[in-house]
Amino acid sequence: MTNNSSLKDLLGLERLNSAQIEAILDKAASFKKTPPKDLLAGRTVAFLFSEPSTRTRSSFEMAAKRLGAEVLSFSAAGSSLSKGETLLDTMLNLQAVGVTHFVVRHERSGVLEDLAPAVKACVVNAGDGWHEHPTQALLDLMTLRERWNGFKGRKVVVLGDIRHSRVARSNLYALKKLGAKVVFCGPTPLAPDAFKELGAIVEHDVERALRGADAVNVLRLQTERMDQGFVASLADYALSYQLTPERADLMKPDALVLHPGPMNRGVEIDSAVADGPRSVILEQVANGVFIRMAVLALCDEGRS
Ligand code: CP
Repeated sequence: MTNNSSLKDLLGLERLNSAQIEAILDKAASFKKTPPKDLLAGRTVAFLFSEPSTRTRSSFEMAAKRLGAEVLSFSAAGSSLSKGETLLDTMLNLQAVGVTHFVVRHERSGVLEDLAPAVKACVVNAGDGWHEHPTQALLDLMTLRERWNGFKGRKVVVLGDIRHSRVARSNLYALKKLGAKVVFCGPTPLAPDAFKELGAIVEHDVERALRGADAVNVLRLQTERMDQGFVASLADYALSYQLTPERADLMKPDALVLHPGPMNRGVEIDSAVADGPRSVILEQVANGVFIRMAVLALCDEGRS
């Protein structure tokens, strides 16, 4: 998305302003209250996913279908991408057969920056490397906003493997713009002080980070992105950083627990917390459909 009110693409939240973020949240809330009918009839949404997904892909598919769009079945693994075709050529060819929206997940950070302006179709980032996962952060904010009057003065802790997390970065950009204080917490290699430059408070002591918090967003260890020993062992990490019931109780009494999924129960989060009264994890997943409906619809408005 650009800074105009018409937004063909959603590549990240860093460059959006608070009004644009609130507009997406408002649209998603209105779709949740009154589902629109056939708003995207005649449109075709294609999914280009080169990394695994359960929640993002299924909720985007659900969102597209609820808006009356067709969904193109496309598997990156079985496509001509594996014969050396570039992602741009693939997108131009799919556009030629009628695709109007691309939803893309890719292992390379920033891969969509050059691709989105080169196609007429809308391009939505469903997670690019360590860079951004904008719709995940938007559904996190939607879930928090349903419980809160606003974000100003709220303390949100993001706990875990911040270093490799596109979710952490998108959450930081959006929460800061709406007035919340964001604390990144994890062991130094996974929550380096360099994040202070982006506006986060960095804290390595989990108890100190959680004390008085309004919410915690727990992240898994992204072992698939780790090429060196960032933690001594999973057991060691769990001992020092797992969100246990005792640690969760350091937050405010009505504080919320979020997790983008997939969860590694017993590592970054205790099941008693994941399934406990503070948890809004499945509400996040349900809200993901409305956020993705809003994004597909708003981007469609921005398509010339
Ligand atoms: N939160 C998230 O992106 O989950 P998936 O990898 O299952 O899509």
